[in-house]
Amino acid sequence: KNIVILISGGGSNMAAIVRTAEREDWARRLGARVAAVVSNKADAGGLAFAREHGIATEVLDHKAYPSREAFDEALAAVIDRHAPTLVVLAGFMRILTPGFVQRYAGRLLNIHPSLLPAFNGLHTHQRAIEAGCRYAGATVHQVTAELDVGPILDQAVVPVLPGDTADTLAARVLTQEHLIYPRAVRRWLESQA
Ligand code: GRF
Repeated sequence: KNIVILISGGGSNMAAIVRTAEREDWARRLGARVAAVVSNKADAGGLAFAREHGIATEVLDHKAYPSREAFDEALAAVIDRHAPTLVVLAGFMRILTPGFVQRYAGRLLNIHPSLLPAFNGLHTHQRAIEAGCRYAGATVHQVTAELDVGPILDQAVVPVLPGDTADTLAARVLTQEHLIYPRAVRRWLESQA
């Protein structure tokens, strides 16, 4: 079973999944492996990590395509070269077209840095602080055509502390993301057995 992970930046969630797959020997225990890491940014830090771990990497510059649909079509063609059982969005900062989401319906996951349905969209930590929230967190969910809404697989909660900035809260949430995303991916793979 091939997992394809899409990133746009540092890819710390991708790295957490790769490390967990290695440590828990998903290849032997689940017949699953991270087959490719795909990014829309050639300078995504996560690409170097993937290469160091012997994982195929692909880069598609969305600016090279005339439309969102054309980019998504090229993206799907690249992804499908790796025959994915599961496609994982991990810090992938592109809104996907309904056609792309439909193509991977039921096998497309995302992690969002808030306790959905609260704070969908961007700048979630700043918004939680400004709203006076006492807790914040992250959500792993199935991706559907509507942004940040699909069925929830798991969540993690962290306290919002006095004096928190978006950065200090983001770091606290990210630590939890690195725990719940690999676990959610593993559970999804086990549910497909
Ligand atoms: C994180 O806030 C994550 O929740 C969101 O993208 C940010 C960076 O993730 N999806 P990563 O370090 O690139 O995995």
